Amino acid sequence: MHIVSNYNSLPTTLQHRRQKLTELVKTPVILWSGESVGRNFPANPFPFRASSHFLYFAGLPLENAAIRLEEGKLELFMDDAPAEATLWHGEMPTREEIAAAMGADRAYPLTELRGKTANAATVAVQNFKTYQQQCQLLNRTVALANAPEGIDLVLAKAIITLRSCHDSEAIAELRKAAAVAIAAHKAGMKATSTAKTEAEVRGAMEGIIIAHNMTCAYSSIVTVHGEVLHNEHYHHPLQLGDLLLADVGAETALGWASDITRTWPVSGRFSPTQRDIYDLVLAAHDACIDKIRPGIEYRDIHLLGATVIAEGLVNLGILKGNPADLVEMDAHALFFPHGIGHLLGLDVHDLEDLGDLAGYEEGRIRSDRFGLGYLRLDRPLRAGMLVTIEPGFYKVPAILNRPDFRNKYGNVVNWERLAQFADVRGIRIEDDVLVTESGTEVLTADLPNKAEEIEGLCGDRQHAIARDRYI
Ligand code: GLY
Ligand code: MN
Ligand code: MN
Repeated sequence: MHIVSNYNSLPTTLQHRRQKLTELVKTPVILWSGESVGRNFPANPFPFRASSHFLYFAGLPLENAAIRLEEGKLELFMDDAPAEATLWHGEMPTREEIAAAMGADRAYPLTELRGKTANAATVAVQNFKTYQQQCQLLNRTVALANAPEGIDLVLAKAIITLRSCHDSEAIAELRKAAAVAIAAHKAGMKATSTAKTEAEVRGAMEGIIIAHNMTCAYSSIVTVHGEVLHNEHYHHPLQLGDLLLADVGAETALGWASDITRTWPVSGRFSPTQRDIYDLVLAAHDACIDKIRPGIEYRDIHLLGATVIAEGLVNLGILKGNPADLVEMDAHALFFPHGIGHLLGLDVHDLEDLGDLAGYEEGRIRSDRFGLGYLRLDRPLRAGMLVTIEPGFYKVPAILNRPDFRNKYGNVVNWERLAQFADVRGIRIEDDVLVTESGTEVLTADLPNKAEEIEGLCGDRQHAIARDRYI
């Protein structure tokens, strides 16, 4: 039997999660998994991904299923596959077998959910067809997940409480996702010495993820234009003087994610200017991770990263002034315009379907400051949280050429000095940091991030090219 039989220890963990939810939510809860979307007809679907809220409590990536929880009891609603489906999909586990694997008390066909929806709370799923079913069966308009109301808001808050601090089963899965992403990055560095395009490096990296029977946790970024923050094009040729930025993460079969970025020189050696900026991004990364422990405000970690970047840019002569004052006026954000990171778990930006309800402590709202507006997490950190730390330096033309910014920051930027860093477009270093009772454990620590170590993993492109020509 497929995935269902592979996870023997799941029911205990799942029961524990469901028990905790029952303590926090007094109404019945119904969570839908969602269904696949056809590319051109239903039997040729886009890859299916179950809703993460469903996965957290059901444990299995079922399609077109729902679970109902009431007073600690779990009911599964899904249809058995029709007999003719075995021709296309082989023998499928029955509803009863699936229910046993997830530790459900009862299992019913999907249509029986209709009579069991009174007073039930839910979370709106992304998939529109399923969302329509949610509204129809609950006989009300379910507010979108980023703006839940009433009993749905109570449920969303409870889910945030549970999902933002990981249990040991989740951490075991997150470690697996981290290990495979580490292997993917090492393969990417190695492939760069002979690759001709970004696409070839992407192929080497995603090949590792696929070979471990995992999927990418998000669309990979593998680009020599790291200044385009979510660049999803892979056609550029690799040139000797380029830096290649790779933001690639893996997702386990049960849905748990990793999220790693490394930036390495295509030639195998950083130029002096690239090295200067790389080292200052790494200094910000290390300073942030050093300070993480339970109780610290993530916003302060962000501001620390911003200050280290501002300080480094002053030392390099790119910014002028006192680093604290520069951060106060958001001058760091000219080059580090995003937040220092986010929650990581079943999703890469975990729980962000719930909007800032998850990321922001009650009573706090997002700042409209240029240097704080993209801060995705503004809470004190707690043991069990997994966060990314991902400072960066980018030369984004749309920011640096904005007339109002030129006006506001004209006197604090040494534009001539900046022009000397022509071979740096974008650098980011991103690791996955688990908050522990005593401080941190970096789940991605086995992937080196120091410049010399990165050079050691990359190999020598000039040498590889010369060798290939000779052959
Ligand atoms: N991979 C997206 C991010 O780092 O936030
Ligand atoms: Mn990230
Ligand atoms: Mn990333």
